[in-house]
Amino acid sequence: MAEHWYKNAVLYCLDVKTFADGNGDGIGDFTGLAARLDYLAGLNVDCIWLQPFFPSPMRDNGYDIVDYYNVDPRLGTLGDFVEFTRRAKENGMRVMIDLVVNHTSIDHPWFQAARQDPASPYRDWYVWSEDKPADAHEGTVFPGKQDTTWTWDREAKAYYFHRFYDHQAELNITSPAVRREIQKVTGFWLQLGVTGFRIDALPFLIEHKGLPTEGMGDPHAYLRELRHHVQTLCGDACLMAEANLLPEEVPDYFGDGDKIHMSFNFWVNQHLFLALARRDAGPILRSYAQLPALPPWCQWNNFLRSHDELDLGRLQKDELQEVFAAFGPEPGMQLYGRGIRRRLAPMLGNDRRRIELAHSLMLTLPGTPVLRYGDEIGMGDDLSLPDRESVRTPMQWTDGANGGFSRADAGQLSLPPIAEGEYGYRQVNVEAQRRDSDSLLNWLERVLRRRKETPEFGLGECRFIETGRPEVLAHRCDLDGVTAFAVHNLGPRRVRFDLPVDAPADGCVHDILARRREELQKDGHYRVDLEPYGYRWLRRDAGE
Ligand code: NOJ
Ligand code: CA
Repeated sequence: MAEHWYKNAVLYCLDVKTFADGNGDGIGDFTGLAARLDYLAGLNVDCIWLQPFFPSPMRDNGYDIVDYYNVDPRLGTLGDFVEFTRRAKENGMRVMIDLVVNHTSIDHPWFQAARQDPASPYRDWYVWSEDKPADAHEGTVFPGKQDTTWTWDREAKAYYFHRFYDHQAELNITSPAVRREIQKVTGFWLQLGVTGFRIDALPFLIEHKGLPTEGMGDPHAYLRELRHHVQTLCGDACLMAEANLLPEEVPDYFGDGDKIHMSFNFWVNQHLFLALARRDAGPILRSYAQLPALPPWCQWNNFLRSHDELDLGRLQKDELQEVFAAFGPEPGMQLYGRGIRRRLAPMLGNDRRRIELAHSLMLTLPGTPVLRYGDEIGMGDDLSLPDRESVRTPMQWTDGANGGFSRADAGQLSLPPIAEGEYGYRQVNVEAQRRDSDSLLNWLERVLRRRKETPEFGLGECRFIETGRPEVLAHRCDLDGVTAFAVHNLGPRRVRFDLPVDAPADGCVHDILARRREELQKDGHYRVDLEPYGYRWLRRDAGE
């Protein structure tokens, strides 16, 4: 049976404006990005997810859009975009883009029309109230930065609803005209060569909060409509949800496999960081035990870090404090009372063993991995920048001026690359790591190749294995009679244990990463010997 491409792909997330500046004006652009496609293909990336690149006043890093049918002129033209998707395809890579239709910028002509005239057809595109709702102080996504979800608009003479900043007015998803417009937007970009969308803020997009339909009808039904639309236009199309779901909410989003295709696994992500902090596999095991199984055509997205804070809001209060203490102990490293605004490498003390361990977990646990640009070379963060900007500094290509990101004068850059210290571009850059066969970059390139050669992890049925060692996470993934195993030692001490591999007494296993045949013990178990923070990928089959 044909398998769905997205279930066994490696995704790479980047922001065009901070990746590579092609024309030297200090801002990353599509020309610069197109010139780096070889790099991404060489890393073994299958699909590039582009963060918003549309015209925007940039009050939320582009998640505040004023034109859904265009490219921000600072980043290029529609022509540059199409050339980029074509060249990505030639290099064997697909492109997914952000679909940010929970809200528009209040500068969007739709909102401008809506606020100026109550009779405007656009009035109903947004969510209004004549009086300030009593719960206006609740439910804001940026606590401490935004203290209300309803803001008075003098021109409209009404309050408008916004989950995020007050410059991001919520669209009314129950309006047929809004739904039709979303069809046009998705159809437009599918025609221009993208294969799918990362749906920003999905739970908020579909909610009926503040609308007459609140509490009536199932808001999740819309997902079937959207899925049907994109899949009709493009059989390969994939919807990837940004949705920080509780386990009990999961079925509503995946349906019978007829709603979204994938969703970021925020639940496991938060427990994974708790497990890393405790050096104990328990929280990961617990988090999977709580999650329901997905329909066969669906998938989780595994990730370590993103362009936002590491959101730990689903953990218990004491667990959150444990992760803060381990990975973000200073108040300046924390955000919104629930998150850490640091990159992966500094959180893990730049300990190569733990960085590899975290990546190996992301690559072998059930799901499609999503890498974040810069993590492949262990980039750091800049805590002198406000809020989430700390983790959004430009890609570090070389040890030359501006880290090779741009040939513009340093003063012209909208965000400076990290120049000084352990994570500065003189120490951490692509060029130096390409020369070093032991670098993190070359290690990742190798393990990504192995990951793609081991479809059991992406497509197989995953089961966890009891080892009697709390610091060890062991799991197996079965696919068409072939079994891959992964074992991880989250602890700082060497550990030895017997892994049941269900092999005949004269059988063997193959160490997938070391490319080595390993003998079994007489009882058919494999004796695992893991160094501190060590990991192994094994396969039991007729041979590689
Ligand atoms: C989620 C995005 O990841 C975040 O960066 C953004 O601020 C909000 N959605 C609002 O669009
Ligand atoms: Ca540029």
